[in-house]
Amino acid sequence: MYGYLGYKVLLGHSSIGSVIMMVGLLSQVRNFIWQVSRFSIMMHEYKTHLKRVYELEELQDEPYINNEDKINDHSISGEVDFENISFGYNGIPVLKDFTLKIKKGQSVGIVGLSGVGKTTLANLLMGIIAPMEGEIRIDNIPLSQINLEKFRQSVFYITQQPYMLNDTIRANICYGLDDVDEKEVWKAVENVDMLEFVKGLKEQLDTVIGERGIQLSGGQKQRMSIARIFLRKPKILILDEATASLDLESEYKVQKTFEKLQKGVTSIIIAHRLATLTKVDNIVVIKDGGIIEQGSHMELLQKKDIIINFIWSSII
Ligand SMILES: Nc1ncnc2c1ncn2[C@@H]1O[C@H](COP(=O)(O)OP(=O)(O)OP(=O)(O)O)[C@@H](O)[C@H]1O
Ligand SMILES: [Mg+2]
Repeated sequence: MYGYLGYKVLLGHSSIGSVIMMVGLLSQVRNFIWQVSRFSIMMHEYKTHLKRVYELEELQDEPYINNEDKINDHSISGEVDFENISFGYNGIPVLKDFTLKIKKGQSVGIVGLSGVGKTTLANLLMGIIAPMEGEIRIDNIPLSQINLEKFRQSVFYITQQPYMLNDTIRANICYGLDDVDEKEVWKAVENVDMLEFVKGLKEQLDTVIGERGIQLSGGQKQRMSIARIFLRKPKILILDEATASLDLESEYKVQKTFEKLQKGVTSIIIAHRLATLTKVDNIVVIKDGGIIEQGSHMELLQKKDIIINFIWSSII
């Protein structure tokens, strides 16, 4: 463009003054285009931030008030009661008059088709949401009277989408704990069948994962979140499809170590695979907001019920 203007001056078609003016105008136009493109990038970033703010706003506040009067010196033994629970989202009922008693140290498998309310049950027990009707009791004390913060320290909940810190493998396994013995961390890594993988990394336990480091697959994330349990001594364990992304061989290995860990721990295992539930004390089948059947793995396999057969065939 500048060459063309110079050529026009040489031919006498334009004066130096008008060229200087054109050059000034051109640089303003260029600035303007640059500002517009910057603005659109900024708008995109703002939109992403705003979306996060809206998402946060959509999250419900803690449904239980955590005041000083709450029972907070109660050490949980792990008995869980869901009594006549009704709950729904936006006026659409999910659980209706749902009752389930879990004894201290008992393991219960929860099965049911997608969307029946399995995760909702786990969230109700964690006090993330509160029932519209009925009561949840821990060791016979209503959840509404227990200090939730203290309660949650005794519960380990692996959600369907495990959360990973943008930090080292060690930090991810040990977060919230002080002075964890190196050997114990390696043992936890071994228990979830990740020993070979972590040993193969240059920085081993100090390898950063997430945005600033290596990326983990869905199954590896699940293993990492399961490894966290081995360093803690929960009284209640909630596993929401915790091994769903693992291949059968890994799941079998993790399952074996779980069995040791589960001794004396009240466990609620939401699962999609029959193999995950062969060892639990009681399996509960949910449909239409309530329990339609329950029993041991063998007992349920013998049922001729069409719905149970359908659920079995969809979770094997
Ligand atoms: N935050 C929410 N807002 C509105 N509806 C929700 C919310 N969470 C869950 N639901 C709805 O409630 C019902 C039960 O959901 P839930 O996540 O408990 O099902 P699930 O049994 O865990 O399913 P899956 O096996 O797919 O994990 C579904 O119909 C779901 O769409
Ligand atoms: Mg779920």
